[in-house]
Amino acid sequence: MKKQVVAILGGKKDGNTHNLLKFLETKLNENEIGLEVVILSEKDIKDCKGCENCVLGTGCIIKDDMIEIRDKMKKSDGIIIASPVYNNNVTGKMKMFIDKTAKWAHSPILTAKPYLGVTTTSSSGLNITLKYLKIVGINWGAHFVGNIWASKRTTNMKKNKKVLSKFIKSLFQNPKEHKVTLNQIIQFQTKKVLAKTVFPNDYEYWNERGWLDQLYYYKCKTNPFNRLLGHLFNWMFFKIMKKAMNKYKDKIGTKEYGKLKYE
Ligand SMILES: Cc1cc2nc3c(=O)[nH]c(=O)nc-3n(C[C@H](O)[C@H](O)[C@H](O)COP(=O)(O)O)c2cc1C
Repeated sequence: MKKQVVAILGGKKDGNTHNLLKFLETKLNENEIGLEVVILSEKDIKDCKGCENCVLGTGCIIKDDMIEIRDKMKKSDGIIIASPVYNNNVTGKMKMFIDKTAKWAHSPILTAKPYLGVTTTSSSGLNITLKYLKIVGINWGAHFVGNIWASKRTTNMKKNKKVLSKFIKSLFQNPKEHKVTLNQIIQFQTKKVLAKTVFPNDYEYWNERGWLDQLYYYKCKTNPFNRLLGHLFNWMFFKIMKKAMNKYKDKIGTKEYGKLKYE
């Protein structure tokens, strides 16, 4: 295989969502792309305790299979996040997994990796779930390509095949060819300003990668208007955060900063 993709499955083994992944696997294999499915229900993923050591300290204090899954995702050429719709969103198991990736939202580890969201539903909750899967990918710094889905009403195969072709193409593309949206640029600029201001732990990570002066994680295609708005947003948001820094300078980088006071 020329490329390797990892899919994280929040649903049950051999269920509708898993079967959709198996269908995608045959198509990926035809293009010399391997697919490994990680079934979260077979993994040890412990509850996030909310200690924030991942963001403010030395990393997650809980030892579970997250380390192994993280390594798999980091090594892969592309990422699929797949979950059935449960009560209008991803499954609890998937949400537990996503909660454990909070650090990746501040110091992204999956930048430039093509990313697909996959879901199945009886009928409702599709839009919320697809939107959420997209937010998760962009938050990780991955390159969101699109969503693939099926429901009782339609298996949506025509559109799914189009998105899959786009995903396959982007796996073989140089990231310079990626078309990046304003949303992706604004997310990048937001994280950058936070690394420069409220999350001193992330500063070194961003500096080492040369991201602190960039429009996006890497050189990419975007229109000049997005470029302009991205720089403008950075300038404005940095000004706002600098003001906040002066006000809370003794608390920056501590839990005290995030504590809400009800007086
Ligand atoms: C606990 C639970 C909650 C569900 N919530 C919804 C829902 O909100 N809307 C919906 O249309 N279908 C809902 N479904 C149906 C599933 O989304 C649908 O059958 C899906 O294809 C199951 O995928 P799976 O076989 O991979 O688990 C729910 C199913 C379960 C078990």
